[in-house]
Amino acid sequence: MNLSKSTKEPLCQLPEVVIVGTGTYLPSKILTNYDLEKMVDTTDQWITERTGIKERRIANEKETPSEMGAEAALIALQNAGLTPEDLDLIIVATTTPDTIFPSTACYIQQKIGARTIPAFDIQAACSGFIYAFVLASHIVSTGSARYILVVGAEKLSTIIDWTDRNTCVLFGDGAGAAIIAAGKDKNKRLSFNIGADGSHWQTLYIPAGGSKLPLTPQNINHKLHYLHMVGKKVFKLAIDSMEQSLLRCLKNAGRSLEDIACIIPHQANLRIIEALSQRLHIPSEKFFVNMEKYGNTSSACIPIALHEAIISNRIKDGDIIVLVSFGAGITWGSVLFEYKTKKMESLKKEEIALIGQ
Ligand code: UT7
Repeated sequence: MNLSKSTKEPLCQLPEVVIVGTGTYLPSKILTNYDLEKMVDTTDQWITERTGIKERRIANEKETPSEMGAEAALIALQNAGLTPEDLDLIIVATTTPDTIFPSTACYIQQKIGARTIPAFDIQAACSGFIYAFVLASHIVSTGSARYILVVGAEKLSTIIDWTDRNTCVLFGDGAGAAIIAAGKDKNKRLSFNIGADGSHWQTLYIPAGGSKLPLTPQNINHKLHYLHMVGKKVFKLAIDSMEQSLLRCLKNAGRSLEDIACIIPHQANLRIIEALSQRLHIPSEKFFVNMEKYGNTSSACIPIALHEAIISNRIKDGDIIVLVSFGAGITWGSVLFEYKTKKMESLKKEEIALIGQ
């Protein structure tokens, strides 16, 4: 698989960003592999060996993506020493929005008590958080916003066929959030690579529920409102796309794999990460993995893992880190940046013309 059909390859440089705070929300209900043994024809051994997942979280009725995203956002704000008033923009990555419209970002804006700042969702499936991160980085670098809240929030348990052992063992619910501000050093060479190849849309999708095939009793009877996946094909596309995206990201930044302190990959399957590690000759310790606890939470995987890597001191100030993902679409994305935590005290409200003001 070749990521780009174009011969013109833009040099995708990422403006310097500071992650001023992160947070997560994970439902308290744990569904273990042993629980799944009682639901479908599977075993803890099969799931562990084929995926690396041991358990996942399942949201209750009240735990919608906006509810979980708002909780994660409030923790991120607290960690940043900021209040909701300080935010200038909210971007939410989700494949399981509370409603088709309005956006989950609008619900989160209301729930956390932010000002009437712009708020919108991004749909790039599991690559959504990386797409949102790249977008937010560019917006803060223009000075149009000081602090942007980027959230990945998912309730995948609602789009899973719980009688299908091929898919139901893989996914979980949860949310992660990061608050992003502009860095000061404009000369740092940091990079991103994002892309999509729509020709593979049928490998992972939900057939019904959109305007193409609205929900009808018949479509529901045929289970067309659930996630459909060609697992083996997705597996291969995942390794190819993450490998190539990561290599392009490094090339764009003029960095080598030795420069990277930590890689935070999409948490879909441990065997995908092991394959990446082998192909690129990267020691497996460089990958941050937490899928054994949460499974695949789609666009929430990366911000949840990022937060856990920060609070466990797996990544430290000044480390070069890479986030890398792939998802339905298919989409892929990676960002390479220097992890910086410092708060941007020097940015005064009146210094810049903010979005919508
Ligand atoms: O964010 C992106 C989301 N999706 C992914 O990342 C998925 C990528 N794909 C994968 O992770 C893997 O393809 C799976 C974990 C989904 C499947 O693993 P696999 O090694 O590709 O297994 P398979 O589909 O080839 O199935 C092998 C066997 C089959 O039985 P037969 O036909 O050989 O008798 C399946 O029916 O394993 C069976 N099987 C299971 N057995 C026990 C499939 N699911 C299960 C299960 N428990 N849960």
